Amino acid sequence: MSGFSRDRRLAACSFQRKVRWKPAVPGTLLFLLLAATPAQAGGDADKGRAAFAKCRFCHQLGEGAKNSVGPVLNGVVGRPAASQPGYAYSAAMKASGKTWDDAALRAFLAAPAAVVPHTKMTFAGVRDAGTIDDILAYLIRFGPDGRAVP
Ligand code: HEC
Repeated sequence: MSGFSRDRRLAACSFQRKVRWKPAVPGTLLFLLLAATPAQAGGDADKGRAAFAKCRFCHQLGEGAKNSVGPVLNGVVGRPAASQPGYAYSAAMKASGKTWDDAALRAFLAAPAAVVPHTKMTFAGVRDAGTIDDILAYLIRFGPDGRAVP
């Protein structure tokens, strides 16, 4: 009799193990998907807002933003470089031929002067790729008029 109930317990135990493994598989897949998708999908916009503090010295965002040391960055994701009206860009930026898609922004933010030599953005760059993801997730929230993109 005791042998029977021990078997039952063992059976229950291996059943639990199976159940525990099942949700782990989609979880892993989801993680791999997130890791493989481009910046904004993986970044955390709230962390990006905090990280943008170092950009805010020179760049404004949101409704009523004005060009200051650097151009307004509303709607910057996807727009051609040097296209913010009323801002006096460097010759280097005007001639860069960049479009600020995901890859171009990542490269530029990591090492501005290496990607656009003689840019007047005097900023060393953001070292951490995860922080760049976060900043891009934050930037993409702002449409060209500075309103939140739905
Ligand atoms: C010390 C001031 C300064 C800081 C800090 C700074 N920038 Fe800039 N940024 C500039 C200037 C000046 C330009 C214009 C560059 C040019 O014309 O060569 C610029 C240009 C840019 C551009 C190109 C915009 C366009 O319209 O083509 C992007 C994108 C950008 N900055 C993003 C950032 C982000 C994101 C950060 C923070 C991680 C940041 N910048 C930090 C001064 C700064």
